[in-house]
This record gives sequence, C-alpha cells and structure tokens, in this order.
Amino acid sequence: MKKVMMVAMACGALSLCGAQNAVSVKIAETYAGKSAFITGAASGMGLCTAKTLAAAGATVFMVDINAEGVKKEADAINALGKGKAYAVVADVRNFAEDEKAAKFAIEKAGKIDLLVNYAGGNEARICKSYKPLYEQPIEVIDWGMDTNLKGPLYVSRAVMPYMVKAKGGVIVTLGSVTGFEGDSASTYSVTKGGLTNLALSLAKAGAPYGIRAFCVAPGPVLTRPAMAKMQTLLGFASQPQEVVDFILFMASDCCPSITGTTHVIDAGRLAMGRQATTGGFLESKSKK
Ligand SMILES: NC(=O)c1ccc[n+]([C@@H]2O[C@H](COP(=O)([O-])OP(=O)(O)OC[C@H]3O[C@@H](n4cnc5c(N)ncnc54)[C@H](O)[C@@H]3O)[C@@H](O)[C@H]2O)c1
Repeated sequence: MKKVMMVAMACGALSLCGAQNAVSVKIAETYAGKSAFITGAASGMGLCTAKTLAAAGATVFMVDINAEGVKKEADAINALGKGKAYAVVADVRNFAEDEKAAKFAIEKAGKIDLLVNYAGGNEARICKSYKPLYEQPIEVIDWGMDTNLKGPLYVSRAVMPYMVKAKGGVIVTLGSVTGFEGDSASTYSVTKGGLTNLALSLAKAGAPYGIRAFCVAPGPVLTRPAMAKMQTLLGFASQPQEVVDFILFMASDCCPSITGTTHVIDAGRLAMGRQATTGGFLESKSKK
C-alpha cells in the first residue's frame, strides 16, 4: 500500500492523474532501464506516462512544443532521483525537429524501446473555433491535420529506423472514440480515425523486425476538468493514470502479440450508441 501511494505521489497531482494499483506498479517496473520517447509530455497523459516510467527507473525523452512547461516537468522528475528525464523541445509537425529529437535520444540512451504519440488535441477547442466543419477556416483544419495526423506519422518516421536497426520496439498512437463517432465540428475525428490506420500500417512495416504498433482510443479522460461533462455509460470520465497503465501494459513484454489493433478505453461511451456527436461543442444545435 505504501509503495502504491509513493508511486501515486510521484505521478503528481492525484486529481489530474490518478493512483496506480499494485499490478500496474509491477508492470511499470518492467520498463526499468528502458528508454521511452513520449510526445506531448509537458501535460496530461504524456506527462503522466513520463512520471510513471521514470519512477520505475526508465529513461524518458519528454518531447513537447511547450519549452517552459516540459523543462519544468523534466526538472521535477529528475529531482525525485529515480529514472532520467530529458526535456526535448520539438514541434511534431516539423520533421527536421522530430529527426533531431530522435537522434538526441539515441545519442543519450542508445535506443528507443517505446514511442508514445500523445501530442495533439481537438483543433476546434484549441483554436477556439466552434463552427460546423463546413465553416471551419482552412488554417484551423490544417492545424488539426498537421498536429494530430501528420505529427504522429512524422515522429514515427523519425524514430522507427532506429527500432528497425535494433530489431525491436513498440509504437503507440493515440486515437479517440471520436475516431469512431465522427464529429461535425472538426477534423479531430478524421485524424483520430486515421491513427487506427497508422498503427495498422506501422505494425505491418514493423513486424519483420519484431516491432509492434497499436492504437489506444480513449473516451473522455480527466486531463482537464471539462472532460467530466462528457457523457459515458458509467457516468464518469477515465483517470489519466488508468489509460497510461493500460497503454504500458499492452506495450510491455506481457503482451507480445498485441499489434495492428485499436483498443478502446472509454467508460462505455461507444456502447451508448450516441448519434452524430460533435465532441460536445455543437450538441445543442444538432436539430435544425
Ligand atoms: N483527454 C482526453 O479526454 C482524450 C480523449 C481521447 C484522446 N485523447 C488524445 O490523447 C492525447 C493526449 O491528450 P491529453 O488530454 O493528455 O493532452 P494535453 O492537452 O494535456 O497535452 C497535449 C500536449 O501536446 C503538446 N503539443 C501540442 N501540439 C504540439 C506539437 N505540435 N508538437 C509537440 N507537442 C505538442 C502540448 O503542448 C501539450 O503538452 C491527445 O492526442 C488527445 O487527442 C485525449
């Protein structure tokens, strides 16, 4: 119990991350001595992953466009004196920056065992452009496509050659239930659906080299309080730690046959069979 609490504390604010249980602590410990390249690691599930893995003795490369945020979080992890954290400032949309970041990780750790592509977000929310898709400005659409689809593709393209050379590794893409539901307000759902296919394609390309790739599609996750308002069958949103533990289990040596698939973790949101959702932005306007 004491150990579980210690890991939970290492994971930061409990309210925005959640606590690990004894089983997930054990699974995280299998990453000791491994190296993980985590995009979007300055906040949310990316940060939770970095904290969880570093607490278990892994080396984490925390890649984010938010230079100040990612440096602060990497410093906080290093202050705990467990695994090693590197803040790596890069924009996933820029392939040259992705290549530089991957090269840096190889120079420091000699390998990348795990890549998790978290960087992204719903462009309608981030650009504060709450309009139907047919009215969205092209620059908003481009932000979504570039960050959420091209970003994970570029990062995987930058990292995977090192995994091929090492004959092993695991790549995770972050889809969303929205990728199955559709969303009348943004290309977010288009890109998240595409990440199911990216994982499948990477799995096919990687299989000859022992590389696995899969997609995790969460429902609402409490990385920000507003997610608590999203509907689910169980009536609550997932804790970030639960999703992170789920990913780390499937990426671990416990699951050597998981590849090419998409795994939903959504408190029953898809099971509700909701119609024509809009990511919540335009739900009240769904009937004309
Ligand atoms: N939170 C949810 O409810 C939820 C549900 C389903 C899927 N997801 C997906 O999971 C992933 C993580 O979600 P979260 O809520 O933990 O995210 P978050 O918003 O807390 O963090 C995203 C991070 O990505 C970084 N980032 C954004 N653009 C970037 C870029 N161009 N280059 C590098 N870094 C960039 C941000 O600075 C931020 O640190 C996202 O892809 C999201 O779409 C989240």
